Amino acid sequence: MATVYVTRRAQFNAAHRLHNAEHSEAWNEATFGACNNPNWHGHNYVLEVTVAGTPAADTGYVVDLVVLKQLIKTRVTNHVDHRNLNLDVDFLRGIMPSTENLAIAFWDRLAPHIPAGRLYRVRLFETDRNFVEYYGPSHEDAPGR
Ligand code: NI
Repeated sequence: MATVYVTRRAQFNAAHRLHNAEHSEAWNEATFGACNNPNWHGHNYVLEVTVAGTPAADTGYVVDLVVLKQLIKTRVTNHVDHRNLNLDVDFLRGIMPSTENLAIAFWDRLAPHIPAGRLYRVRLFETDRNFVEYYGPSHEDAPGR
């Protein structure tokens, strides 16, 4: 069967601070740079959610993109858009809000709810130049495997 990868892109704006209180101020500044700014700072995040599957015989769709769009809103972006990721988001409580950890958290929010096919990849851009990709806990679908 032909596997097709379908991606929906979403955006959100959020504040955060990367800071580990178990380390010194100097360590935090050296490690996290601008992301350690004491009074927060924002990013314009871009989230790409990719679902893999076989096109259905009756629709030709792997997944209905309107449904996927709504799912991304209700499970992820409604909770993080215009929020402080350190303080405001229940499912991020106690988690260092690095792009890596956000991608894992978003995967966990989305994967059980994908209506058709299966979640293949969560890609999260923190800036135009910096992004991460997460292929789920099994890593079975990672490139080169
Ligand atoms: Ni930052």
